[in-house]
Amino acid sequence: MDGGRENFSPQTDLRDFLSAVEEAGQLEKVNGAHWDKEMGAVVEVLYRERVEKSKAVLFDDVPGYPKGFRCLYGMLASPYRLALAVGMDTEASDDRFGLLKAYQKKMFQHEPIPPNFVEDGPVLENVVEGKDIDITKLFPVPVHHELDGGRYIGTACGVITRDPDTGRVNSGTYRCMVHDGQTLGVMSSNGKQGNIQRAKYFAKGQPCPMTIVVGVDPTHFLAARMTIPDDVDEFAFQGGLAGKPIDLIMGDNGLPFPAHSEIVIEGEQVPDETRLEGPFGEWTGYYAGDAEQDPIFKIKKVYYRTNPILTCAASQKPPHSHLFERCFTRSVTLMEGLEKAGVQDVRGVWHHEAGSGRTFVVVAIKQRFYGHATQAGLMASQLNPATYCGRYTVVVDEDIEAHNLHDVVWAMGTRSDPSRDITHLTQCQSSRLDPMHEDGTLFNNRVIINACRPYERIDTFPAVAQTSPELAREVRKKFAKVFSY
Ligand SMILES: Cc1cc2nc3c(=O)[nH]c(=O)nc-3n(C[C@H](O)[C@H](O)[C@H](O)COP(=O)(O)O)c2cc1C
Repeated sequence: MDGGRENFSPQTDLRDFLSAVEEAGQLEKVNGAHWDKEMGAVVEVLYRERVEKSKAVLFDDVPGYPKGFRCLYGMLASPYRLALAVGMDTEASDDRFGLLKAYQKKMFQHEPIPPNFVEDGPVLENVVEGKDIDITKLFPVPVHHELDGGRYIGTACGVITRDPDTGRVNSGTYRCMVHDGQTLGVMSSNGKQGNIQRAKYFAKGQPCPMTIVVGVDPTHFLAARMTIPDDVDEFAFQGGLAGKPIDLIMGDNGLPFPAHSEIVIEGEQVPDETRLEGPFGEWTGYYAGDAEQDPIFKIKKVYYRTNPILTCAASQKPPHSHLFERCFTRSVTLMEGLEKAGVQDVRGVWHHEAGSGRTFVVVAIKQRFYGHATQAGLMASQLNPATYCGRYTVVVDEDIEAHNLHDVVWAMGTRSDPSRDITHLTQCQSSRLDPMHEDGTLFNNRVIINACRPYERIDTFPAVAQTSPELAREVRKKFAKVFSY
């Protein structure tokens, strides 16, 4: 599972990755869809019907733009494509828990490898500077959803910043709205690393140098969407994941960017000039958060590969085109956090699709002692990434598949007593995107539901009325025809 296919390694160039995806029959090419809501709608309707079984969608011939200037959605949205991206065994992509464990190893058991600085790379094929820049003329930037406040160039992106105190480079996926041809908005939320770094510059009255990669390769996207420890450089982490140094080019604003990026936008965010940013159809499934005055990003320089690919990930009411990997990567991060925090015998974790990957999290444990389930629930509700905008954390026994809603709801209905097994927490970390948020703070309240068999009755709790795995295997074999549809 974790060895990957022979001669196969994690993907640090989007085009190599797409060739492999196409070869596997997982790439749909669509010509002629309009940037104004049409691409977003095609992808939404497709993914709503088939969720993680949908292909990646590559749009070309976008009206008003040269052929070859493309937009890609659903890059990592199937178990197969996710496995391919990080060099795991794609044949084993049906085994959910096995895939989670293999990915955990890939993500968390590698040593960072410092990047390699180069003078040249594909992204330098085209360079536009100063007055010649008009981002809306250059690229087919989509309006992803009908009520969005504008065109969003950054969705599946990496926003690069540097900590002014430590020098550490970070890349985070934050939405970027087009205000005009030379100005963007970049929305990083409460507590995000890029937001904290930006605040340090602004506190000194200085602009924050920033570089936005809007054509990311798979490993950059996977690193940018997770919180890397503050003492690890983002591209060293990505190098560790890739098993080789990432080739970086040093930009004019003192920030590096991957040489194999598709599109790179260089500039700075300024403390003293704001514009209305938003609304945007968000992961919560609402246009919540509305539009707010946010510091603007001034574009200084644009680099792009010939026939560039703009990587897109439009969030919305689940399911959507980046929900699978969203739930998957978050579940792995939480599993790692729980294990590191000393929670024993974690047997499954799932950030549920129906909870938009954040609001409904299930942890399965093998109960070992009185209070084990409470410990697991409290930890899971506060560890990254569940702490941000979490709402319901459910703890179940090891016989319950954490990602199987039928199992989970059944356990809640038969193993928990609402008068004793629900713990309320207040003043937890939230966001303005939370549609329930209304009092001007960024707190939320949440509950932990202990849906494990009561520990004091664990040996006497009624047996589960379900065919044993042995008998199931036997009848499958004996009556194979019944199961062959
Ligand atoms: C497709 C996608 C879009 C996202 N958009 C935003 C966003 O607009 N603002 C934000 O703060 N976080 C957003 N996130 C979540 C952050 O990328 C994530 O929390 C990440 O860990 C942030 O990086 P950081 O820990 O370096 O701050 C998005 C994630 C994904 C996958």
